[in-house]
Amino acid sequence: MEKIKAVYAGSFDPIHNGHLDIIVRALSIFDEIFVAILINEEKEYLFTLEERVKLIKKTIKDPKLKVETFSGLLVDFMKLKEAKIILRGLRAVSDFEYEFQMALMNKHLNPEVETFFMIPSEEYTYISSKLVKEVVKFGGKISALVPPCVEEALRKKLVK
Ligand code: PNS
Repeated sequence: MEKIKAVYAGSFDPIHNGHLDIIVRALSIFDEIFVAILINEEKEYLFTLEERVKLIKKTIKDPKLKVETFSGLLVDFMKLKEAKIILRGLRAVSDFEYEFQMALMNKHLNPEVETFFMIPSEEYTYISSKLVKEVVKFGGKISALVPPCVEEALRKKLVK
């Protein structure tokens, strides 16, 4: 039988428990998952591409999970991996407009591609990488929001 492969793409700057929740649950549904980090030279990130890959690999190990980087169009990366499913987390109504546009654009670019939305578990619906970084910077607690290795890495970068 054909393997069902899904791609979970994003910036992951850094990975947080909301991402992890989606990945863990998706691993019980799909045969193979590619966590795909976008290479975007125009945007500034806190963590380098290599650091972001390392933090994801350190956080979750599963034979069905691959961590990769890509540049250009997501649908082109998917063709390369022979994947037809884009996995996205949908946290709130505010995410919807952007996600709706992306799903339709990807469908336009490749009609064979389907976008699957997963709602994060309730306790993670408010987490974003941006907010986590802000909270660390000003001394707030984040241990319930990110894996321990990410917390350590964030403190090294942001706490003077
Ligand atoms: O979680 P993010 O950072 O909002 O992820 C956005 C991402 C990486 C999924 C999106 O920007 C993307 O797919 N970029 C690749 C370029 C592309 O394919 N654009 C056309 C479809 S929107």
